[in-house]
Order: sequence, then C-alpha cells, then structure tokens
Amino acid sequence: MLRRTPMTTAADAAPPAGEPQATGATPVFVARGLCKSYGSGDATVHALRDLDVDIWQGEFVVLLGPSGSGKSTLLNILGGLDAPTSGRAAWRDHELTGADEAALTAYRRDHVGFVFQFYNLIPSLTARENVELVAEIARDPMRAEEALALVGLSHRLDHFPGQLSGGEQQRVAVARAIVKRPDALLCDEPTGALDVETGKLVLSAIARANREVGATTVVITHNAAIAGMADRVLRMGGGRIVAIEANARRLAPEELVW
Ligand SMILES: Nc1ncnc2c1ncn2[C@@H]1O[C@H](COP(=O)(O)OP(=O)(O)OP(=O)(O)O)[C@@H](O)[C@H]1O
Ligand SMILES: [Mg+2]
Repeated sequence: MLRRTPMTTAADAAPPAGEPQATGATPVFVARGLCKSYGSGDATVHALRDLDVDIWQGEFVVLLGPSGSGKSTLLNILGGLDAPTSGRAAWRDHELTGADEAALTAYRRDHVGFVFQFYNLIPSLTARENVELVAEIARDPMRAEEALALVGLSHRLDHFPGQLSGGEQQRVAVARAIVKRPDALLCDEPTGALDVETGKLVLSAIARANREVGATTVVITHNAAIAGMADRVLRMGGGRIVAIEANARRLAPEELVW
C-alpha cells in the first residue's frame, strides 16, 4: 500500500494560479514544488523546475509544450513510473513521492492505464488476448471484448497485431489500458505515429474511455489542434507549467481542424 498522506497536507498548499478553486472538489493529482534533474554540476539538466499542478477527477487534460519541456517527465511521475528529485506528488490521499517500488507497482496496476506512442502489443497474441493479459491481473476489470468494443474494434478480436493497421493497434493499446477501469488514463503522444484520420479514431477511443469509464485523462501531444478536446490545456515550458487554459466546450475529435 502507498503511504497515506495526512489529510491536511493537500489542503495546506494553495492551488496554483489558474486552477478552479470555487468548485469545492478535491483534486485527484496534486504536485507541489516538483523538481526533477539529471546529471550534476555544469551538466545538470533540469527536466522539471518547481512545478505545481492540480488535476481534477474525471477531467480531460491536454499537455502541450516544446520538446524537452518536461511533459513526459511529469506524466511518468504522476503515473508512478519515475520519482522526482524533490517536491511531492500525490494521487488522492496517497503519497507517490518516497513510495517504494512495490507500492508504485501496485499503484500502477490498480489505478493507472498508460498509452504510449508505440503500441508495444505482444505480437504472438491476438487483440483479445493482449487485452485479457491485463484484465487477468486487475481487481475489477471489464471483459476484454467490452474494452475492445469501446474502442470500436469488435470486428478485430481475433486478429494478431501484425494483421492490424497502426491505428487499430493503438486502439488495442487503448483497450488494454482501460480494461481495468483505471482511475487515471495517461497518454504520451498517442497519435504521434499516426496520420490525421487514424489519429482522430484513437482520440475518439480515448475520449470515450474518459467519458464512459470516468478515467481522469492526461494526453501529451505536439498537435495543438488536439487541445480543443480538453477541459483544460496545460502548456509547459522549461520544466514548468507556463499557462493554463480552460475550454468552455470540449470538441469531439471529428470537429478538430488539424
Ligand atoms: N533519463 C534521462 N537522462 C538525462 N536527461 C533526461 C532523461 N530523461 C529526460 N531528460 C531530459 O529532461 C528534459 C525533459 O525531458 P522530457 O522527456 O520530459 O521532455 P518532453 O517534453 O516529453 O519532450 P518530447 O516532446 O521531446 O517528448 C529534456 O531536456 C531531456 O533531455
Ligand atoms: Mg516526451
């Protein structure tokens, strides 16, 4: 189990500027003073510099920013794949900072679905089997067929990855991420390797998972057009969040102009 944070801790720190403050809701992710550096001396790279962020239950966040601005580093810390050099990150009342590897593994298994640019499906298993592999170790999974239906792949259950297009493989990867009904769906450039129309199908699958599974969703992208799908857009620069924009209305992927 992750160490529980005393309830006062999250409330102590004021929300960063630009965060919704009047809702009375509690953020699911809280990061305060997050720093991540690599190397030492003159060669030190500061991937994150004193970053504060709150992310709210069920919201769809798009993370934009130039290459090297710290997007993946932030996502990996929120997903329990990486640890900050200093500062703190918490998921609900569980402290991620300082948690040991076993606790982080349990956190990822029970609460987080990941989608990366490259699908990493197991080539010798069918779409259904790739998804079942995750369902088998989850606490309250949906059926693999249900997850594949959510991403529009009911007609490809018994195909192997090599028999699927890139966009279809990425939708299998989304199904694999959501079959456990994750609390958080973290996507690092999920459309980075796809053309526009295929990318929109994958984004539709992610938006549907956010809506129907209720997973708090963070999507990293280099494509500013995708920002229209978000509740909020966080812009990163130099290891910090430099701007936060809220959209009055979320666009469907089909409405995005690429
Ligand atoms: N393992 C590592 N060792 C050393 N430096 C690293 C490491 N991982 C990331 N960095 C550095 O940290 C900074 C932030 O990297 P990060 O991957 O978070 O950026 P990003 O915004 O995701 O970029 P991109 O859009 O290119 O994926 C970069 O300067 C990067 O070179
Ligand atoms: Mg990255």
